[in-house]
Amino acid sequence: MKTQKNTNVVMFTLMERLWHWIQAFSMVMLALSGISMHWPNSIFSMNTAYKMHNLFGYIVTINFIVWVLYMLITKRIHLYLPKKADEYPMGIFKQAKFYIADIYFTNKHPYHVGPENRMNPMQKLAYDGVMFLAMPAQMITGFILMFGGASIHTALLIHILVGAFFVLFILGHMYLATTGHTPLALFKEMIHGYEEDLVKDTAKDEK
Ligand code: HEM
Repeated sequence: MKTQKNTNVVMFTLMERLWHWIQAFSMVMLALSGISMHWPNSIFSMNTAYKMHNLFGYIVTINFIVWVLYMLITKRIHLYLPKKADEYPMGIFKQAKFYIADIYFTNKHPYHVGPENRMNPMQKLAYDGVMFLAMPAQMITGFILMFGGASIHTALLIHILVGAFFVLFILGHMYLATTGHTPLALFKEMIHGYEEDLVKDTAKDEK
């Protein structure tokens, strides 16, 4: 089986896709430059790492503000809010069971996702935590480290811990993004924006 884009069903708008890939690239740059400052010269020189970290710090902050405004103005923020169909808290366990065990035996996801409910209960919890807790914590502590205003030691500790969390999140996120109908289906959705439908791949699938 392979997938084919269904141009009737828009999963991610152009704005959401642009936001996401700017965010993804910038966060990887922030992680690499952050590591280079924590362990000097491990990847980039201290000077380059410092300049990169400040630049991408500003880029993700602006990107985040644009994203919040866009989601509020278009009312698409509802996609991030818990709904009855998510069956919290059981929905989290149901979805986790799928990722840990069922996925190896069946391709049947426990929750059907679509343009009006595009995240399963676990994704919603993870993405809400990342966007509404981890991102603000990282931006606020980053600006405290740049401009002062509160305890630098506490800000640095939070910034390093949340930074480490982001590295783990990106690794887990990239793995889970391969668990769509085919390993590349969700990546393609985040590129062209349309739902990816399963289609029979000629005689190969007839066997
Ligand atoms: C670094 C490489 C990254 C890759 C390859 C990647 C890939 C993807 C893919 C394929 C999706 C769609 C499938 C899904 O909803 O799970 C997605 C969604 C998402 N990603 Fe990423 N991502 C990356 C980094 C990040 C980073 C750094 C963040 C945030 C800090 C992030 C936040 C999100 C969010 C919030 C969604 C859900 C969007 C929505 O449905 O509104 N991603 N990502």
